[in-house]
Amino acid sequence: MCGIVAYVGSKPCQQLLIEGLKRLEYRGYDSAGCAVIQNGKLHIVKAVGRVANLEDKLEGIGNFTGTTGMAHTRWATHGGVTEINAHPHTDDKVGIAMIHNGIIENYAALKTYLEEKGHTFKSQTDTEVLAMLIGELYEGDLEKAVQAALREVTGAYAICVICEKEPETLVVARKGSPLIVGVGSGEYIVASDASAIVSHTTQAMTLADYNVVKITPKGFRTSTIHDVPVTPKIEQLELELQEIELGGYQHFMRKEIFEQPKALRNSFRGRFDPKEGRVILGGLADHAKELNKVTRIILTAQGTALHAAMIGQYLFEDLAKIPARAEYASEFRYRNPIIEDGTIVVAVSQSGETADTLAALSEAKDRGALALGVINVVGSSISRETDAGVYLRVGPEIGVASTKAFTGQVAVLTMVALFLGRRRFMSGEQCGELLRALETVPEKIEKILTQDEVIRKITMKYCERENWLFLGRGYNYPTALEGALKLKEISYIHAEGMPAAEMKHGPIALINEGMPAVFIANKGRQYEKVLSNIQEVRARGGHVIAVATEGDEHIRRYAEDVMYVPDIPEPLSPMLTVVPLQLLAYHAAVIRGHDVDKPRNLAKSVTVE
Ligand code: AGP
Ligand code: GLU
Repeated sequence: MCGIVAYVGSKPCQQLLIEGLKRLEYRGYDSAGCAVIQNGKLHIVKAVGRVANLEDKLEGIGNFTGTTGMAHTRWATHGGVTEINAHPHTDDKVGIAMIHNGIIENYAALKTYLEEKGHTFKSQTDTEVLAMLIGELYEGDLEKAVQAALREVTGAYAICVICEKEPETLVVARKGSPLIVGVGSGEYIVASDASAIVSHTTQAMTLADYNVVKITPKGFRTSTIHDVPVTPKIEQLELELQEIELGGYQHFMRKEIFEQPKALRNSFRGRFDPKEGRVILGGLADHAKELNKVTRIILTAQGTALHAAMIGQYLFEDLAKIPARAEYASEFRYRNPIIEDGTIVVAVSQSGETADTLAALSEAKDRGALALGVINVVGSSISRETDAGVYLRVGPEIGVASTKAFTGQVAVLTMVALFLGRRRFMSGEQCGELLRALETVPEKIEKILTQDEVIRKITMKYCERENWLFLGRGYNYPTALEGALKLKEISYIHAEGMPAAEMKHGPIALINEGMPAVFIANKGRQYEKVLSNIQEVRARGGHVIAVATEGDEHIRRYAEDVMYVPDIPEPLSPMLTVVPLQLLAYHAAVIRGHDVDKPRNLAKSVTVE
C-alpha cells in the first residue's frame, strides 16, 4: 500500500510529482501530500482523500518551482485518516521532510526517547517518529543521519528524505517495502513501482533491503545503513505505458477482466507443447533434481492469491500426486511449521510485495525448504527471495480487485502441476490431452465475456440484497471463496464462500426468503451432490444463481438464474467459472455506485503486516 514518488534534478517537479501520484494512487488512497524545496525553504501541502483534493489545494496556492521534492499517498496504519497524519512528516529542528511506506515497529520506544529529548509530536503516526529521529541525529550530513536513524529502527520501510539545509539532496532507503530509482539524464525519479517512472526513463535500479541511496542532480551513491558501499544494478524497465492506461475502458477492473484471454495467451506462450505432452518452464529447470525428489508442497499467500493457491493444492494432488496444502501466509509464518526434507514452498502473489507472504517464504527457506514463486511483478521483493519461480506474464494489474492475476496464477499453477506430473506418473498422452484443453481456455473465456449484459441483468435483480452465499465443491470451493471476496471488496455486500456440503452444518440458518446463493454447478464429479445442496437452499426460500456448463438445461429446474461456461476438464474449470463471478461483482459495484478500482479501506498491495 501507499504510493511514493520523489524527484531531484533540473526541472520544477511539482507537476511530475502529482502525475506520478495519480499513477500510484491504486496502491493506497486515504490521504495525499507533497513537499518541495524552493529557495532553500520546505513547502508542504497535504489533503485528506484522493490526489485530486491535493491538486485542488495546490492550485489555490500556486505552483512551486522547486527542483527537489516528493509526494505520497497514504494507507493508514498508525493514526486516523486526517490531514495531520498525512505524509510528508517533518522534524522540529533542521527542516527534514520524509515520506514512508511501511511500519516502524519500535516507534513507541523511539517516541519516548525523543520526547525525553524535548521533541514534540503533532501526529499519531509512526512515520513522524522516524522523521524526528533523523532530525535529532542530523549533524550536517543527511545521508549519515538517515543511516544512523535506520540502524535504530525495526520494521518495514521505503522512505524518501529531504532537508532544507541540503536543498539538492534526496536520500532514499528501503527494507521490506518496495522502492525503485529511475535514472534519467541529470535527474532521478524515485517511486514505489515502475508505473510512476516509465514515462520519464526506462533505466532504473531496484533497491535491496537496507540499501540507502544519496541522490543529487550530479549523481548518486548507494550504500547500506552501515555505510558499506553497494554496486547498483541498473536495469531496463519492461513496462509499457499503454499497459497501465485505461485504453477506453470505464475501469481498470473491467479492462483486466476483458484482458484475460490475451493475458493467458501471453502466460502460455512458449511454455508447453501439447503434441509432445511437455511443459517447458525455464524458471524451474535449474532445480530439476530437487523437484524430482519433492515429497510435499506448501503453498502460501493471502487473499485472492490464496484462493489460487488452494486450487493449486487440488492440482498438485490431482495431476502430480504430490501431497499439497495451501496456507494463509500470516498464519504459516508464526505457527512454527514443520518443514522436512523434500518440502517445497510456493509463494503465490500478484504484486510480489505482500509482507506476510514474503515473511512466510523467508521462514520456510530458513527451515530448509526450496522456495518457488508464482508472481506477476518481475523483480519484486518476493521474486528476489525465491530460489526459482514462474512469472505470470499477464501484464500489470491496476484494479485493486484482482482478476487477470487470479486466472494467471491458476494457469501457472496448472502448468507447474503438469510439469511435476510428467516427471512422475503422468503419461505424455494424458498431459497432451490436458494441454490441448488448456490451450482452449482463452477462447472459452472470450465466449463467457459475451454474456456480460446477461450477467449485468442478473446482478441488477439481486444487488440490493446485503447477504450472499457462494458455494462449490472440489475445485469450485476455492473459486466460491474468490467469488465471495470479489463481491465483498468492491460492492461492500457481505458475502461468504464455503464448501457446498458445509452449508448444512450451520450457515443454512442464514437462508431466508430471497437470499441469493451462488452455486458453481458445472459438470463434474460432484454435480449431483451440488444439485441436492441447491434444493436445500430453495426449500428455505433462497434464490439460486448457478454457474453451469453450456447445454445443461437440467439446472434450470433448480436455479432462478444461470450463467453458462463452456465445458472443460474439471482441473481447468476454475479459470472459466470465476469469470461470471468477476463480472457479477463488477456490475454490483457499478450499480451500487462504488469506486470499482479504488474500493474503500483497501490498497492494491498490502506491504504491511
Ligand atoms: C484481491 O482482490 C485483493 N485485493 C487482495 O486479497 C490480494 O489478492 C491480496 O492482498 C494478495 O495480494 P498479492 O497477490 O499481491 O500478494
Ligand atoms: N505507517 C505509516 C502511516 O500510518 C505509513 C503507512 C503507509 O504505508 O502508507 O502513516
